[in-house]
Amino acid sequence: MRAEIGLWLEQSAVGLLVRESLWGFPIVVGLHILSLAFSVGMFLWFDLRLLGLALTSVRVSLVYRRLIPWATVGFGSSFITGGLLFTGYATAASANTAFRMKVLMLLVAGVNAVVYHTVTERDREAWDAWTHPPRAARVAGAISLIAWATVILCGRIMSYTMF
Ligand code: HEM
Repeated sequence: MRAEIGLWLEQSAVGLLVRESLWGFPIVVGLHILSLAFSVGMFLWFDLRLLGLALTSVRVSLVYRRLIPWATVGFGSSFITGGLLFTGYATAASANTAFRMKVLMLLVAGVNAVVYHTVTERDREAWDAWTHPPRAARVAGAISLIAWATVILCGRIMSYTMF
């Protein structure tokens, strides 16, 4: 990221609030971690269902329909609070290897979800009630779990390597 953009973000009112006010950073990072419970915490159960490891007596589509409203709020707030954190530490974050890996894994998780919804899910009616969904669905669940676990790990590593 261009240095001027990073400096501009850090000197913005939001950047200063997150980085220099007494409660800015603790509140935003606290909300960022809380959002995790409603984002990845919800998707975890859907991925375990796709892998045939949990909730196997419930149809895949029903598990999805029950969790997606919560996960949508969770991801929304993860991205908003993440963006606020980034604004406060744009230069250090964009140069941080753990952050770059985190962004890459966010992209992998996104592409995996698009492929699942546009390709794998097309014939879901056929396997919706199966305790062990077909390989493509299980692979989607595994990729999602690995990608989100890496996002969380990288988020944590950032705290130790960014400053
Ligand atoms: C669903 C998506 C996301 C998850 C699950 C996630 C998870 C995490 C976790 C677990 C931490 C460690 C917090 C700590 O203990 O200090 C973290 C830190 C951080 N995240 Fe995220 N994050 C997500 C999205 C984002 C996005 C989109 C951005 C930026 C655009 C972002 C920016 C940051 C920053 C800058 C930190 C470092 C805060 C610090 O210094 O402690 N995150 N994230």
